[in-house]
Amino acid sequence: MIREVLTYPNPKLRTISQDVTKFDEHLHALLDDMYDTMIHKNGVGLAAIQVGTALNALVINPVNEEGEQKKEDLLEVINPQIIESDGVIIFQEGCLSVPSVYEDVERFKKIKVRFFDRLGNEHTEVYEDFMAVALQHEIDHLRGHLFIEKLTYLKRKKFEKEWKKRAKEKA
Ligand code: CO
Repeated sequence: MIREVLTYPNPKLRTISQDVTKFDEHLHALLDDMYDTMIHKNGVGLAAIQVGTALNALVINPVNEEGEQKKEDLLEVINPQIIESDGVIIFQEGCLSVPSVYEDVERFKKIKVRFFDRLGNEHTEVYEDFMAVALQHEIDHLRGHLFIEKLTYLKRKKFEKEWKKRAKEKA
């Protein structure tokens, strides 16, 4: 089921999400809805709080070298913890909660993450480049943060000005 995606400046996006404790059918329905919503909105990642559920769950579905977004590449991540990080990468990010805004953000290039899958099995994996960036972006959502908070002062001011202008045009 496709759900509504909350957009900036909805204060709910600042919520600190809680750990999942039950790996049951409610979690599976949430993950399925998150996948449907992400694909419907042409996104590559989504955190549960973006559909209004304050749980530590996120999905990432990268586009492969052929430009296809295949469900077999879907990664579901529950209760993630970054346990190691290394290097620097600058990558142009976007977010379904801040539509049509794309800005360069600095992140760790490589991270080691401990997390659970939908069945409650624990995993520890190393991710680099796009997957590392996407994971850090989505994990930020779980802590109540958006990528625009990482922009330089001037870029942030420019963003706020344009965002207000756009909101006025919509009203
Ligand atoms: Co986002």
